[in-house]
Amino acid sequence: MKNSLLKQRPRRLRSKVGLREMARETRLSPAHFIAPFFVTHGRGVRRPIPSMPGQFQLSVDELLKEARGVSKLGIPAVLLFGIPKKKDAVGSEAWAADGIVQQAVRALKKDVPDLVVITDLCFCEYTTHGHCGLLKAGQVDNDATLRQIGKTAVAQAKAGADLVAPSGMMDGTVAVIRAALDRAGYTDTGILAYAAKFASVFYGPFRDAAGSAPQFGDRRGYQMDPPNAREALREIKADVAEGADIVMVKPALAYLDVIAEARRTVDVPIAAYNVSGEYAMVTAAEKLGWLDGAADMRAAFEVLTAIKRAGADLIITYHAVEAARRLRRAAG
Ligand code: PBG
Repeated sequence: MKNSLLKQRPRRLRSKVGLREMARETRLSPAHFIAPFFVTHGRGVRRPIPSMPGQFQLSVDELLKEARGVSKLGIPAVLLFGIPKKKDAVGSEAWAADGIVQQAVRALKKDVPDLVVITDLCFCEYTTHGHCGLLKAGQVDNDATLRQIGKTAVAQAKAGADLVAPSGMMDGTVAVIRAALDRAGYTDTGILAYAAKFASVFYGPFRDAAGSAPQFGDRRGYQMDPPNAREALREIKADVAEGADIVMVKPALAYLDVIAEARRTVDVPIAAYNVSGEYAMVTAAEKLGWLDGAADMRAAFEVLTAIKRAGADLIITYHAVEAARRLRRAAG
């Protein structure tokens, strides 16, 4: 049918691969990814995490092997979570000089010096009760926890961390860390702030991976209420004002509106955390044969592209290594 009234034919630019390439608005590169790892005591440990197929708890020697691969693929950074030898009420391995994360950072800095090392800064993996700070009358005590946060940041910086990433959602965290780092002489150690972290059901598999499920109650008293976008912007602006170098929105998929608004509101880089439950949904549905394109990671790429399109500059994702491998292969 000829129809001269049809002035717009957007399908033209979809008609072949080359034109689609030219019209593409959003591109992914390994340089946008941050790869998370769970590091544990021991040697030769590579313990699969059942709810996160393809992810492992790794001892430091195994982590080094992974990190070399990450670096070769052009992924600039790793994010480390520690699984302590022994938990206690205050989470003291978090700041111990021989704590597992500090050991891992020192080893990475020696072995893969160009890799950016980011350390998660929280206590839930280290405490017997599984909450993100010190307890007082069954609640997490904000200001008492801040003192622990300051010294943990210094311990991580001393080990060689490039960026510390506080994830506990205590008020005033970024200011306290900046002051503690500067006082200790670590003026060049940066802060990737979990600025808008929601109390989400999508952290489920992570809590298995890190053994960090709260032993009573939940995290709604400190993490954000999922319906609140304006409050997320307030948190983000506060963290930038306190000195955050990068701010994060977490989780990613159910919060793309928050990512987009954050990108418009502040001028520091925005990171989004494509969390464990988001990874589990994709990998589980693929395992069941319910999604097509598993071999090409089509679902993962669609998700990662959406997070980028929403405005994230950086994506923390368990898909990082496999996605980077495919991107490199496609680039020839
Ligand atoms: C620790 C922390 C959590 C995650 C990152 N840091 C768990 C939580 O807050 O319960 C979740 C990451 C993921 O689900 O992939 N506070």
